Amino acid sequence: MRVSQRLYHARMIPPRPDPPSPPRQLTDPPPDIPPGAQGAPDIQIASARLRDLPAIAALQRRAFPPPLAYTLSTLVVLWALPWVRLLAARRNGQILGVVIGDRVVEGGRVINLAVDPVVQRQGVGTALLHAVERTLPGGDMTLMVQSGNSAARSLYRSVGYEDAAENPNYYGPGRPGVRMRKRRG
Ligand SMILES: CC(C)(COP(=O)(O)OP(=O)(O)OC[C@H]1O[C@@H](n2cnc3c(N)ncnc32)[C@H](O)[C@@H]1OP(=O)(O)O)[C@@H](O)C(=O)NCCC(=O)NCCS
Repeated sequence: MRVSQRLYHARMIPPRPDPPSPPRQLTDPPPDIPPGAQGAPDIQIASARLRDLPAIAALQRRAFPPPLAYTLSTLVVLWALPWVRLLAARRNGQILGVVIGDRVVEGGRVINLAVDPVVQRQGVGTALLHAVERTLPGGDMTLMVQSGNSAARSLYRSVGYEDAAENPNYYGPGRPGVRMRKRRG
């Protein structure tokens, strides 16, 4: 899959730059996630550092089939965009999962979520979703998910997302996607 396809989500709704946030510098410390967004107490969630991206790319390859895993180059591009939030969940320093979100006109959007297969069903995905929502306050949250991805759809429903629309060819010819929305008042 080409980088342009991997960034398809980001093109669906033109991203709105966040004026108060200057472009991230390589030396910036990662912003803290507010208390209460961490989920399970032994999991720490914070913005990924540049040096985390190779491990996150490896995690992507473990969690997704090859066409859907974000490559290192895609992750670097997303990490550098000031309106994108790229958060990693860790336990004892080891990266367990990642979530990528961004600001869009209607609020926030989840672009990518992946949890290492060896730690799935331990609440990591839930904690990452809550964390990215807190970093993207205001407006509804939206996301796209493959229609057949029952695990992810179950997770999204469990934290308040509802099916909003189906696109029969979103992930390619004959590969439908469901747009889900979480209303935030
Ligand atoms: C989808 C994914 C992110 C879930 O992460 P996770 O850390 O395992 O999720 P959680 O432990 O927080 O699960 C919360 C709830 O979601 C639902 N859920 C999660 N995985 C499920 C599965 N395999 N089958 C059914 N329900 C599931 C359950 O309701 C679960 O609660 P429970 O464990 O108390 O029953 C993970 O399976 C993953 O990375 N999959 C591969 C990549 C992917 O599909 N990403 C989403 C792309 S849109």
